[in-house]
Amino acid sequence: MKKILFTLLTLTVFTLSSWAEDGHRLWLPAQKSQTAHVSTNAQSATIDLAKQELTDYFAGTKATLLIDPALTDDEGFTINGNEDSVVVRARRDIGLLYGAYDVLRRQAIQGNMNHVEQHPRFRLRMLNHWDNLDGSIERGYAGESIFEWFHLDEALLHQYARANASIGINGSVLNNVNASPKMLTREYLDEVRKIADLLRPYGIRVYLSINFATPMVLGDTRTADPKNKRVRQWWKRKAKEIYSIIPDFGGFLVKANSEGQPGPGDYHRTHAEGANMLADALAPFNGTVIWRCFVYGANHKGEDRVKQAVSEFKPLDGKFRENVILQTKNGPLDFQPREPYSPVFDQISETPNMAELQITQEYTGQSHHLVYLGPMWNEFFQYVEPEWLAGISGVANIGKDRNWCGHHFSQANWYAFGRLAWDPSLSSEDIAKEWLGQTFSTDENFVYMMSTIMEESRETCVDYMMPLGLHHIFKFDHHYGPEPDGFKAEYPLEWCPVYYHQADANGIGFDRSSKGTDAVSQYREPYASMYDKLETCPENLLLWFHHVPWTYQMKDGSTLWESLQYHYNQGVINVETYHNIWHNKMRHYVDEQRWREVDDRLEDQVQNAREWRDVCLKYFGGFANKKQ
Ligand code: GCU
Repeated sequence: MKKILFTLLTLTVFTLSSWAEDGHRLWLPAQKSQTAHVSTNAQSATIDLAKQELTDYFAGTKATLLIDPALTDDEGFTINGNEDSVVVRARRDIGLLYGAYDVLRRQAIQGNMNHVEQHPRFRLRMLNHWDNLDGSIERGYAGESIFEWFHLDEALLHQYARANASIGINGSVLNNVNASPKMLTREYLDEVRKIADLLRPYGIRVYLSINFATPMVLGDTRTADPKNKRVRQWWKRKAKEIYSIIPDFGGFLVKANSEGQPGPGDYHRTHAEGANMLADALAPFNGTVIWRCFVYGANHKGEDRVKQAVSEFKPLDGKFRENVILQTKNGPLDFQPREPYSPVFDQISETPNMAELQITQEYTGQSHHLVYLGPMWNEFFQYVEPEWLAGISGVANIGKDRNWCGHHFSQANWYAFGRLAWDPSLSSEDIAKEWLGQTFSTDENFVYMMSTIMEESRETCVDYMMPLGLHHIFKFDHHYGPEPDGFKAEYPLEWCPVYYHQADANGIGFDRSSKGTDAVSQYREPYASMYDKLETCPENLLLWFHHVPWTYQMKDGSTLWESLQYHYNQGVINVETYHNIWHNKMRHYVDEQRWREVDDRLEDQVQNAREWRDVCLKYFGGFANKKQ
């Protein structure tokens, strides 16, 4: 009896740990193979990792890793061979590690291993963690921060580093852009050093978000004015201290004069003056200042919020030091399910600029909705050329949840971000297929069905939340669910949904045409003219740029109000279909645990999509139906 109980117990433990392992391993190889002999012509901590990965997981007999000084001097690599024997060449040791992961990816999805040559499109491929020092995460939906200050979990951080290296991410900002001044104190910097040491062999440099008023808040200076001599000296000393601890420290990410954060504007100084002070402090150590363009409600208060970044930064273009990079969100508002691209990318030409994408699904159902963001990012790159960008940042969706991202399918967004930061010309569909094959199953039927759902899921989310260019009608503060009637006198108008949809008896939408706020004029041609005219404005952005009568005739002959109803309903029908497919057809492709967890979340998504449709159609119908 005892023996049977014991066997049962161990069996249970085994089953539990194997599913848990599975969720935890992300897209990385599931089973060790240990059949290959791996040789190298050089040695370093990074090459050791590459060697170890191939020794453990390459299922062929032979793998060779070669540093080749004749290759292009970047983090790229070549692969030649087949599933039995491969040669990976790279100029730098990190290229060998990236090459090793590429071999394993190709092995998992039966990809080609001959005549492969890969180079990263962007030099900077970064994650931005919005993690607070107390372990909470702003807009995090997957548990607490993995950066547990003073109790760092090294094993977990190795897994984090490995996952990132496997998709080419090479920078990590460890803390929230709404930064605590304490981040730069010695006790925290000593901890940052430990993380930097751990991430280094994986090719990942560490950056920190800083609070612009740090010297003043810590009580070392009386002001944070960037023209003040003591303040400038403080930052120089601090930079020296940081680099004495972390010699390859990447630099600072700064949110200044935005949403209540301090900044140079508090002293009537410009963003350039603020950024340049920090740049001067970091320059001797080759550090970079990444200065965010997400500003509103300060110098251009009262102006249409989507115009304020250009108003603020265009006059400063060219006035930044060489080691300053601007960082701009993909759209001009705030990571909505659909936005037009940000015109900052058109208007800033003298200063390097990075795109900031949001991997964490703040406005796309958080960790309760299956929404694959690859198509959104593909769409962004239709308007913004990679050569205009110095790099790409993604607001991370990682936490201490066993499956890292809250929703199993949210892992795909982390994966897709890395793959697109490496090569923005990749199609989201191919990335989805790769990810599914590595994460769940390579079964053709499964990959076909689920990649179709993933590809459609973003448009579906737009449909049940905010179709036809509607935006920011989320519930206040937490942004989960609809609140189209949202208005709070004590909040700035730019936080209130009613300000964004402007529904009234005549119609709906925000007039940003030349007859309205003229936000269209910030765009390059042909977009400026195209967006300006109601007839040429793409219908999926109609209510972003125009206030449109309820009876306006859409291209398919329906009225605007009919079209709005159609989209809301279609969004709900799609999610119901996804749930049905997963529930009835996908069970045997996936382990029970992950199947059930995804199933539960899809059920939530169906409920929430219905809520979106019902609340919005009821509210907007109150205006539209009067008119019909
Ligand atoms: C959004 C988000 C905030 C965040 C801000 C930013 O507004 O809701 O939590 O701090 O973006 O990007 O700075």
